[in-house]
Amino acid sequence: MKKVLILGGTTEARQLAGKLAADFLVTLSLAGRTESPVAQGVPVRRGGFGGADGLAAYLEETRTDLLIDATHPYAARISANAAQAARLSGVRILALRRPGWEPVEGDRWTLVDMVGDAVQALGPTPRRAFLALGRQEVPAFEAAPQHHYLIRSVDPVEPKLAVPDATYLLARGPFREADERALLESKRIDVVVSKNSGGEATYGKIAAARALRIEVVMVRRPVLPDVPSAKTVDELAAMIDHGLDPVAERGV
Ligand SMILES: NC(=O)c1ccc[n+]([C@@H]2O[C@H](COP(=O)([O-])OP(=O)(O)OC[C@H]3O[C@@H](n4cnc5c(N)ncnc54)[C@H](OP(=O)(O)O)[C@@H]3O)[C@@H](O)[C@H]2O)c1
Repeated sequence: MKKVLILGGTTEARQLAGKLAADFLVTLSLAGRTESPVAQGVPVRRGGFGGADGLAAYLEETRTDLLIDATHPYAARISANAAQAARLSGVRILALRRPGWEPVEGDRWTLVDMVGDAVQALGPTPRRAFLALGRQEVPAFEAAPQHHYLIRSVDPVEPKLAVPDATYLLARGPFREADERALLESKRIDVVVSKNSGGEATYGKIAAARALRIEVVMVRRPVLPDVPSAKTVDELAAMIDHGLDPVAERGV
């Protein structure tokens, strides 16, 4: 059987792994940041490879036939490493690139390039901000201690932010619009800070903000390397079927 390495950390990566597991020897790679990731259903390896060179060496050592970058759209470093490692090793690469959300009628988005710019975009007047960004990003908001922050993350934010007024919420998506709306209302949130993650699982807060006419400070997506890609799990699986024939390998 052909060997496939999926760089994951997303729901789609897990779904794709499940879909390919019948026909390929699939290994799913996680960065190892989440303390108790959900069960992935296929063999998992954890931790970095040591840059593009390390990933290229791993692909060669394990005789991997296909590399799939199914990481989060904001995980720009691993995506760049994956493209470079594919070039170095000559291993074929495909990427799963979930489309971003587009603003619709009623949205009040302020677009910024980086999380640091989002901090500035909150302005000098104290506000009640919902940070739905991931725990890696929130320390930047210590630069604006005048705001109240509601911080949601999968794992606890440690150490806590050095700001006088922050509330922490532990939760793992998906999040429904009705629940997000109830949260924004009960916490009297007046601005949401978000990445443009795309997909359904975390769109609830964006729809809820629209319904409540709340501003969303949206951090733009980073630029990712240009590699052959698909928008959905099914589309990617179809690309593999056409390019890496598991049936021929089994001699059927
Ligand atoms: N950034 C987000 O908003 C976000 C949201 C949800 C999930 N995630 C997931 O969380 C992980 C880390 O995200 P990040 O933004 O910190 O990544 P990143 O900045 O692009 O990557 C930093 C380093 O972490 C290691 N790494 C990242 N993903 C890996 C993977 N799937 N398998 C093995 N090593 C990996 C690599 O280390 P080496 O250079 O040593 O190989 C990489 O250079 C990603 O897998 C991503 O899919 C990220």
